Amino acid sequence: MTACAIRFYDYFPAVDSFRAEVLEGLGAHTKRIAPKFFYDACGSQLFEAICDLPEYYLTRAETKILTTHAPEISRLIGPGCLLIELGSGNSRKVRLLLEALQPTAYLPMDISRDHLRHAAHLLVTDYPWLEVHATCIDYSRRIDLPYCPEGTRKIAFFPGSSIGNFEPDDALAFLRDVARVLQTNGALLIGVDLKKDTGVLHAAYNDSRGITAKFNLNLLARINRELDGRFMLDNFEHLAFYNEARGRIEMHLASRCQQAVLVGGQRFQFAQGETVHTENSYKYGLEEFRDLARQAGFEPLRAWSDDQGLFSVHYLDARSV
Ligand code: AVJ
Repeated sequence: MTACAIRFYDYFPAVDSFRAEVLEGLGAHTKRIAPKFFYDACGSQLFEAICDLPEYYLTRAETKILTTHAPEISRLIGPGCLLIELGSGNSRKVRLLLEALQPTAYLPMDISRDHLRHAAHLLVTDYPWLEVHATCIDYSRRIDLPYCPEGTRKIAFFPGSSIGNFEPDDALAFLRDVARVLQTNGALLIGVDLKKDTGVLHAAYNDSRGITAKFNLNLLARINRELDGRFMLDNFEHLAFYNEARGRIEMHLASRCQQAVLVGGQRFQFAQGETVHTENSYKYGLEEFRDLARQAGFEPLRAWSDDQGLFSVHYLDARSV
Protein backbone atom coordinates (compact mmCIF):
# COMPACT_ATOMS: atom_id res chain seq x y z
CA MET A 1 0.00 0.00 0.00
CA THR A 2 1.46 3.42 -0.93
CA ALA A 3 -0.10 6.60 -2.31
CA CYS A 4 -3.45 4.83 -2.77
CA ALA A 5 -3.98 5.05 1.01
CA ILE A 6 -4.54 8.82 0.70
CA ARG A 7 -7.85 10.50 -0.06
CA PHE A 8 -7.75 14.21 -0.68
CA TYR A 9 -10.70 16.57 -0.11
CA ASP A 10 -10.68 20.22 -1.12
CA TYR A 11 -13.10 22.40 0.87
CA PHE A 12 -11.24 25.68 0.60
CA PRO A 13 -12.09 28.40 -1.93
CA ALA A 14 -8.62 29.89 -1.91
CA VAL A 15 -8.19 32.97 -4.12
CA ASP A 16 -11.59 34.57 -3.67
CA SER A 17 -11.62 34.60 0.10
CA PHE A 18 -8.01 35.78 0.26
CA ARG A 19 -8.76 38.74 -2.04
CA ALA A 20 -12.01 39.66 -0.29
CA GLU A 21 -10.53 39.47 3.21
CA VAL A 22 -7.37 41.40 2.33
CA LEU A 23 -9.27 44.21 0.61
CA GLU A 24 -11.67 44.44 3.54
CA GLY A 25 -8.89 44.31 6.13
CA LEU A 26 -6.77 46.99 4.44
CA GLY A 27 -9.82 49.21 4.02
CA ALA A 28 -10.75 49.01 7.69
CA HIS A 29 -10.09 51.85 10.13
CA THR A 30 -7.49 49.74 11.97
CA LYS A 31 -5.87 47.71 9.22
CA ARG A 32 -5.69 43.95 9.73
CA ILE A 33 -5.13 40.68 7.89
CA ALA A 34 -5.88 37.29 9.48
CA PRO A 35 -2.87 35.08 10.37
CA LYS A 36 -4.29 32.10 8.46
CA PHE A 37 -3.05 33.83 5.31
CA PHE A 38 0.61 33.51 6.38
CA TYR A 39 0.66 29.94 5.16
CA ASP A 40 1.27 29.91 1.44
CA ALA A 41 4.09 27.60 0.28
CA CYS A 42 6.74 30.15 1.22
CA GLY A 43 5.12 31.03 4.57
CA SER A 44 4.73 27.37 5.52
CA GLN A 45 8.46 26.88 4.97
CA LEU A 46 9.31 29.97 6.97
CA PHE A 47 7.10 28.71 9.78
CA GLU A 48 9.01 25.45 9.85
CA ALA A 49 12.23 27.43 10.11
CA ILE A 50 10.69 29.35 13.03
CA CYS A 51 9.98 26.07 14.83
CA ASP A 52 13.71 25.28 14.75
CA LEU A 53 14.83 28.68 16.08
CA PRO A 54 16.64 28.71 19.42
CA GLU A 55 14.30 31.44 20.70
CA TYR A 56 11.09 29.69 19.62
CA TYR A 57 10.68 27.34 22.59
CA LEU A 58 7.08 26.31 21.78
CA THR A 59 7.75 23.44 19.37
CA ARG A 60 10.54 21.91 21.44
CA ALA A 61 8.62 22.15 24.70
CA GLU A 62 5.50 20.61 23.20
CA THR A 63 7.46 17.81 21.50
CA LYS A 64 9.13 17.04 24.82
CA ILE A 65 5.77 16.84 26.59
CA LEU A 66 4.27 14.60 23.91
CA THR A 67 7.31 12.33 23.90
CA THR A 68 7.47 12.05 27.67
CA HIS A 69 3.79 11.32 28.10
CA ALA A 70 3.11 9.36 24.90
CA PRO A 71 2.42 6.12 26.80
CA GLU A 72 -0.16 7.74 29.07
CA ILE A 73 -1.71 9.70 26.20
CA SER A 74 -2.02 6.50 24.17
CA ARG A 75 -3.69 4.73 27.08
CA LEU A 76 -6.20 7.55 27.49
CA ILE A 77 -7.05 7.59 23.80
CA GLY A 78 -6.98 3.86 23.14
CA PRO A 79 -6.49 2.01 19.86
CA GLY A 80 -8.55 2.24 16.70
CA CYS A 81 -9.73 5.85 16.92
CA LEU A 82 -10.40 8.29 14.13
CA LEU A 83 -7.51 10.74 14.58
CA ILE A 84 -8.30 14.26 13.35
CA GLU A 85 -5.56 16.88 13.27
CA LEU A 86 -6.45 20.57 12.93
CA GLY A 87 -3.76 22.70 11.27
CA SER A 88 -1.63 19.64 10.62
CA GLY A 89 1.13 21.47 8.73
CA ASN A 90 4.00 19.04 8.19
CA SER A 91 2.31 16.36 10.37
CA ARG A 92 5.54 15.93 12.31
CA LYS A 93 4.16 15.93 15.88
CA VAL A 94 1.49 13.35 15.17
CA ARG A 95 4.25 10.88 14.36
CA LEU A 96 4.99 10.78 18.08
CA LEU A 97 1.57 9.18 18.60
CA LEU A 98 0.81 7.14 15.48
CA GLU A 99 2.77 4.00 16.23
CA ALA A 100 1.31 3.59 19.70
CA LEU A 101 -2.22 4.68 18.73
CA GLN A 102 -2.74 2.62 15.59
CA PRO A 103 -5.70 4.77 14.54
CA THR A 104 -8.32 3.47 12.12
CA ALA A 105 -7.66 6.54 10.00
CA TYR A 106 -5.78 9.83 10.21
CA LEU A 107 -7.57 13.00 9.06
CA PRO A 108 -5.15 15.93 8.70
CA MET A 109 -6.80 19.31 8.02
CA ASP A 110 -4.91 22.35 6.86
CA ILE A 111 -5.40 25.56 4.90
CA SER A 112 -2.12 25.12 3.01
CA ARG A 113 -3.02 22.78 0.15
CA ASP A 114 0.35 21.75 -1.30
CA HIS A 115 1.95 21.50 2.09
CA LEU A 116 -0.86 19.21 3.23
CA ARG A 117 -0.49 17.02 0.12
CA HIS A 118 3.24 16.74 0.57
CA ALA A 119 2.98 15.94 4.28
CA ALA A 120 0.39 13.23 3.62
CA HIS A 121 2.65 11.54 1.09
CA LEU A 122 5.65 11.61 3.40
CA LEU A 123 3.49 10.14 6.13
CA VAL A 124 2.21 7.12 4.19
CA THR A 125 5.74 6.49 2.98
CA ASP A 126 6.80 6.06 6.61
CA TYR A 127 3.52 4.49 7.83
CA PRO A 128 2.30 2.36 4.90
CA TRP A 129 -0.46 0.82 7.04
CA LEU A 130 -2.05 4.20 7.72
CA GLU A 131 -5.24 5.30 5.98
CA VAL A 132 -5.14 9.07 5.41
CA HIS A 133 -8.04 11.40 4.59
CA ALA A 134 -6.53 14.84 4.04
CA THR A 135 -8.76 17.93 3.87
CA CYS A 136 -7.82 21.39 2.69
CA ILE A 137 -10.08 23.57 4.83
CA ASP A 138 -10.33 26.83 6.72
CA TYR A 139 -11.13 25.23 10.07
CA SER A 140 -11.70 28.60 11.72
CA ARG A 141 -15.00 28.72 9.82
CA ARG A 142 -16.38 25.28 10.46
CA ILE A 143 -15.04 21.77 10.77
CA ASP A 144 -16.44 19.31 8.25
CA LEU A 145 -15.31 15.71 8.50
CA PRO A 146 -14.95 14.16 5.04
CA TYR A 147 -14.95 10.66 6.46
CA CYS A 148 -16.68 9.45 9.58
CA PRO A 149 -17.26 5.73 10.07
CA GLU A 150 -20.02 5.19 12.59
CA GLY A 151 -19.15 4.00 16.06
CA THR A 152 -15.50 5.01 15.86
CA ARG A 153 -14.20 7.13 18.71
CA LYS A 154 -13.08 10.53 17.43
CA ILE A 155 -9.94 12.17 18.76
CA ALA A 156 -8.93 15.67 17.72
CA PHE A 157 -5.30 16.73 17.94
CA PHE A 158 -4.71 20.49 17.89
CA PRO A 159 -1.05 21.14 18.69
CA GLY A 160 1.22 24.17 18.46
CA SER A 161 -0.96 26.60 20.42
CA SER A 162 -2.79 27.57 17.24
CA ILE A 163 -5.79 28.09 19.55
CA GLY A 164 -3.91 31.26 20.57
CA ASN A 165 -4.78 32.83 17.23
CA PHE A 166 -8.45 33.04 18.23
CA GLU A 167 -9.90 35.87 20.27
CA PRO A 168 -10.99 34.35 23.62
CA ASP A 169 -14.68 34.50 22.62
CA ASP A 170 -13.92 32.88 19.28
CA ALA A 171 -11.75 30.26 20.99
CA LEU A 172 -14.77 29.34 23.09
CA ALA A 173 -17.05 29.11 20.05
CA PHE A 174 -14.41 27.11 18.21
CA LEU A 175 -13.95 24.65 21.09
CA ARG A 176 -17.73 24.21 21.23
CA ASP A 177 -17.69 23.35 17.53
CA VAL A 178 -14.88 20.84 18.11
CA ALA A 179 -16.91 19.32 20.96
CA ARG A 180 -19.90 19.01 18.62
CA VAL A 181 -17.77 17.14 16.08
CA LEU A 182 -16.31 14.83 18.75
CA GLN A 183 -19.43 13.94 20.64
CA THR A 184 -20.32 11.73 22.28
CA ASN A 185 -17.29 9.76 23.32
CA GLY A 186 -14.40 11.68 21.76
CA ALA A 187 -11.59 13.76 23.21
CA LEU A 188 -9.38 16.70 22.31
CA LEU A 189 -5.60 16.72 22.77
CA ILE A 190 -4.54 20.35 22.53
CA GLY A 191 -1.26 22.24 22.93
CA VAL A 192 -1.49 25.65 24.62
CA ASP A 193 1.33 28.11 25.20
CA LEU A 194 1.52 29.38 28.78
CA LYS A 195 1.79 32.88 30.19
CA LYS A 196 5.37 33.58 31.22
CA ASP A 197 8.18 36.10 31.53
CA THR A 198 7.77 38.87 28.96
CA GLY A 199 11.42 38.69 27.89
CA VAL A 200 11.12 35.03 26.90
CA LEU A 201 7.95 35.74 24.92
CA HIS A 202 9.45 38.78 23.26
CA ALA A 203 12.52 36.88 22.10
CA ALA A 204 10.40 34.06 20.65
CA TYR A 205 8.72 36.51 18.27
CA ASN A 206 11.76 38.71 17.61
CA ASP A 207 14.42 36.14 16.73
CA SER A 208 17.95 37.30 16.07
CA ARG A 209 18.05 35.78 12.58
CA GLY A 210 14.99 37.74 11.49
CA ILE A 211 13.05 34.68 10.34
CA THR A 212 9.88 35.78 12.13
CA ALA A 213 10.20 39.19 10.45
CA LYS A 214 10.46 37.43 7.08
CA PHE A 215 7.44 35.28 7.92
CA ASN A 216 5.42 38.38 8.76
CA LEU A 217 6.59 40.35 5.69
CA ASN A 218 5.87 37.37 3.44
CA LEU A 219 2.20 38.27 3.82
CA LEU A 220 2.85 41.42 1.79
CA ALA A 221 4.94 39.48 -0.71
CA ARG A 222 2.07 37.01 -1.06
CA ILE A 223 -0.39 39.84 -1.70
CA ASN A 224 1.99 41.14 -4.38
CA ARG A 225 2.20 37.69 -5.98
CA GLU A 226 -1.42 36.62 -5.82
CA LEU A 227 -3.48 39.80 -5.73
CA ASP A 228 -1.45 42.11 -7.96
CA GLY A 229 -0.22 44.09 -4.96
CA ARG A 230 2.49 46.75 -5.14
CA PHE A 231 3.84 46.66 -1.60
CA MET A 232 7.47 47.74 -1.27
CA LEU A 233 8.66 45.36 1.42
CA ASP A 234 11.48 47.68 2.51
CA ASN A 235 8.87 50.27 3.43
CA PHE A 236 7.42 48.05 6.17
CA GLU A 237 8.90 46.58 9.32
CA HIS A 238 8.11 43.64 11.56
CA LEU A 239 6.71 44.60 14.95
CA ALA A 240 6.02 42.05 17.69
CA PHE A 241 5.38 42.70 21.38
CA TYR A 242 3.61 41.22 24.37
CA ASN A 243 0.39 43.00 25.29
CA GLU A 244 0.32 42.18 28.98
CA ALA A 245 -3.16 43.52 29.68
CA ARG A 246 -4.67 41.22 27.05
CA GLY A 247 -2.27 38.30 27.54
CA ARG A 248 -1.22 38.11 23.92
CA ILE A 249 1.67 38.57 21.56
CA GLU A 250 0.72 41.00 18.82
CA MET A 251 2.36 41.05 15.43
CA HIS A 252 2.05 44.00 13.11
CA LEU A 253 3.60 45.31 9.92
CA ALA A 254 4.45 48.96 10.49
CA SER A 255 4.72 51.48 7.69
CA ARG A 256 8.14 53.17 7.79
CA CYS A 257 6.82 56.24 5.96
CA GLN A 258 3.69 57.88 4.67
CA GLN A 259 2.75 56.01 1.51
CA ALA A 260 -0.03 54.77 -0.75
CA VAL A 261 -0.09 51.16 -1.93
CA LEU A 262 -2.07 49.64 -4.79
CA VAL A 263 -3.62 46.19 -4.34
CA GLY A 264 -5.64 44.80 -7.22
CA GLY A 265 -6.12 48.32 -8.53
CA GLN A 266 -7.38 49.67 -5.20
CA ARG A 267 -5.40 52.34 -3.39
CA PHE A 268 -4.64 52.16 0.35
CA GLN A 269 -3.15 55.03 2.30
CA PHE A 270 -0.63 54.47 5.15
CA ALA A 271 0.52 57.09 7.65
CA GLN A 272 4.08 56.80 8.95
CA GLY A 273 4.04 54.29 11.83
CA GLU A 274 0.56 53.00 10.96
CA THR A 275 0.35 49.23 11.23
CA VAL A 276 -1.42 46.27 9.70
CA HIS A 277 -2.29 43.94 12.57
CA THR A 278 -1.39 40.46 11.34
CA GLU A 279 -1.56 38.18 14.37
CA ASN A 280 -2.58 37.73 17.97
CA SER A 281 -1.09 34.83 19.85
CA TYR A 282 -2.93 34.48 23.15
CA LYS A 283 -1.18 32.87 26.11
CA TYR A 284 -3.12 31.11 28.87
CA GLY A 285 -2.59 30.10 32.45
CA LEU A 286 -3.08 26.38 33.07
CA GLU A 287 -6.27 26.89 35.09
CA GLU A 288 -7.44 29.68 32.83
CA PHE A 289 -7.43 27.29 29.89
CA ARG A 290 -9.11 24.50 31.83
CA ASP A 291 -11.91 26.94 32.67
CA LEU A 292 -12.31 27.84 29.02
CA ALA A 293 -12.45 24.15 28.09
CA ARG A 294 -15.13 23.53 30.73
CA GLN A 295 -17.20 26.44 29.40
CA ALA A 296 -17.02 24.81 25.98
CA GLY A 297 -18.45 21.61 27.43
CA PHE A 298 -15.28 19.57 27.83
CA GLU A 299 -14.11 17.83 30.94
CA PRO A 300 -10.41 18.62 31.40
CA LEU A 301 -9.04 15.26 32.50
CA ARG A 302 -5.29 15.79 32.31
CA ALA A 303 -2.80 18.61 31.73
CA TRP A 304 0.93 18.19 31.28
CA SER A 305 3.63 20.82 31.28
CA ASP A 306 7.40 20.84 30.67
CA ASP A 307 10.00 21.27 33.45
CA GLN A 308 10.26 24.99 32.87
CA GLY A 309 6.52 25.56 32.75
CA LEU A 310 6.70 27.04 29.26
CA PHE A 311 4.00 25.06 27.48
CA SER A 312 1.01 22.84 28.23
CA VAL A 313 -0.80 19.93 26.61
CA HIS A 314 -4.38 19.21 27.71
CA TYR A 315 -6.48 16.10 27.36
CA LEU A 316 -10.12 17.18 27.26
CA ASP A 317 -12.93 14.67 27.35
CA ALA A 318 -15.99 15.33 25.20
CA ARG A 319 -18.01 12.51 26.70
CA SER A 320 -20.43 14.68 28.59
CA VAL A 321 -21.10 17.18 25.80
C1 AVJ B 1 1.19 28.74 14.80
C2 AVJ B 1 -0.10 30.47 15.77
C3 AVJ B 1 1.06 28.94 17.16
O1 AVJ B 1 1.52 32.11 17.49
O2 AVJ B 1 3.42 31.17 17.94
C4 AVJ B 1 5.08 31.94 15.13
C5 AVJ B 1 2.59 31.39 14.73
N1 AVJ B 1 3.78 33.57 14.61
N2 AVJ B 1 5.81 33.06 15.10
C6 AVJ B 1 2.45 31.34 17.21
C7 AVJ B 1 3.80 32.26 14.82
C8 AVJ B 1 5.02 34.04 14.76
C9 AVJ B 1 2.37 30.53 15.93
N3 AVJ B 1 1.14 29.70 15.90
